Amino acid sequence: MSHSALPQPATAHRSEALTGRVRVPGDKSISHRSFMFGGLASGETRITGLLEGEDVMRTGEAMKAMGARIERNGAEWVIQGTGNGCLLQPEAPLDFGNAGTGSRLTMGLVGTYDMETTFIGDASLSKRPMARVLDPLREMGVQVVSAAPGDRMPLTLRGPKHAAPITYRVPMPSAQVKSAVLLAGLNTAGITTVLEPVMTRDHTEKMLRGFGAAIEVETDAAGLRTIRIEGEGKLTGQVIAVPGDPSSAAFPLVAALLVPGSDITIDNVLMNPTRTGLILTLQEMGADITLLNPRNAGGEDVVDLRVRASDLRGVTVPPERAPSMIDEYPVLAVAASFAEGITVMEGLDELRVKESDRLAAVAAGLKANNVDCTEGEASLSVTGCPGGMGLGGGTVETHLDHRIAMAFLVMGLAASKPVTVDDRAMIATSFPEFMDLMTGLGAVIE
Ligand code: S3P
Repeated sequence: MSHSALPQPATAHRSEALTGRVRVPGDKSISHRSFMFGGLASGETRITGLLEGEDVMRTGEAMKAMGARIERNGAEWVIQGTGNGCLLQPEAPLDFGNAGTGSRLTMGLVGTYDMETTFIGDASLSKRPMARVLDPLREMGVQVVSAAPGDRMPLTLRGPKHAAPITYRVPMPSAQVKSAVLLAGLNTAGITTVLEPVMTRDHTEKMLRGFGAAIEVETDAAGLRTIRIEGEGKLTGQVIAVPGDPSSAAFPLVAALLVPGSDITIDNVLMNPTRTGLILTLQEMGADITLLNPRNAGGEDVVDLRVRASDLRGVTVPPERAPSMIDEYPVLAVAASFAEGITVMEGLDELRVKESDRLAAVAAGLKANNVDCTEGEASLSVTGCPGGMGLGGGTVETHLDHRIAMAFLVMGLAASKPVTVDDRAMIATSFPEFMDLMTGLGAVIE
């Protein structure tokens, strides 16, 4: 799909109780990694539950361009990987569209190869900082042949004949940076070490271990994680069932909390503790969320979530919780708009460098819809309006950001006046079924 096509606005209207049982698409982080690690490993990888969103498909195309064979066979994706160390130089630039995760992890994956690789993306991705990945890669011997000003895409990497293993302390809480260095370590002789002072999502560590990588994690008394990976080992294809994405579940979940009388169940949602900050926060706000049928699937905790409409009250969200709910702040800000009192969110620095400047985009969207809020350098406080009387009536600029679009459509379901987003197209990057799923529950969105 071309993102330069005409924008497609959408408007959400105050809706009757949402009811029903749904499944959200597969987790985006695990889906990207399934294509990458499957494409790299020797032998066959079979994946069910994959998120077939545009971002993940770009990662699949990139792996194909470097020698992996990837095919959809009914409900399953079947991959024949190249073998670790055996990726081929792509003949054309790798186009990652809107996908930060796909592009940054792939820079790590191929950066240490003795070949030239060019990365391009859409207007949003081309604005995002890549120095956070390029800096450690440079230390490993990777040459940034060219890049747009400020180490941005489009950019071209050229790997060294032999990369140097490094010890790298990740300077910001970022699973993407951690993962890029670990993936660069896969094609580097010796042991590459990542020091992670603040724990972020650990899908790379867990999945690489599953594929057979020699990877060890130690956590000291202060919470510092030391992750060591030995390069040039063998990875072997796996069978993967991708659980539902908690970051996508967040939208129907908050909608059901806000629309009076709602009672929905979202099946098969990933509950990895590095991803559950939103649920914890909403429960502190008084949300009626029940975790049903807890189970383990492929090494990850999974539950079904029953969600009933609830009267919420404002809370202060501690900054150290941010990494476990980093993608959920837009929809939390919407929940806070309907809560009794003030919700304070702190430690939001990383929101400035997502698919949009999410802090600014959320604050502007709230203000356009009559929500009283204050945007700080790295914080947001929202004064709620229980019942949503007087809220809505505005048009939100989404800045090519899927989560801004979905969050404000959720707002419109409970506000007294409709909420319009300027473009729904980007929703397809992470949650192509969003409109159908929400309208199936009873949401009025057109
Ligand atoms: C992701 C890490 C997070 C998150 C993104 C997915 C990942 O980004 O926002 O949606 O799969 O590793 P950062 O690492 O930049 O925080």
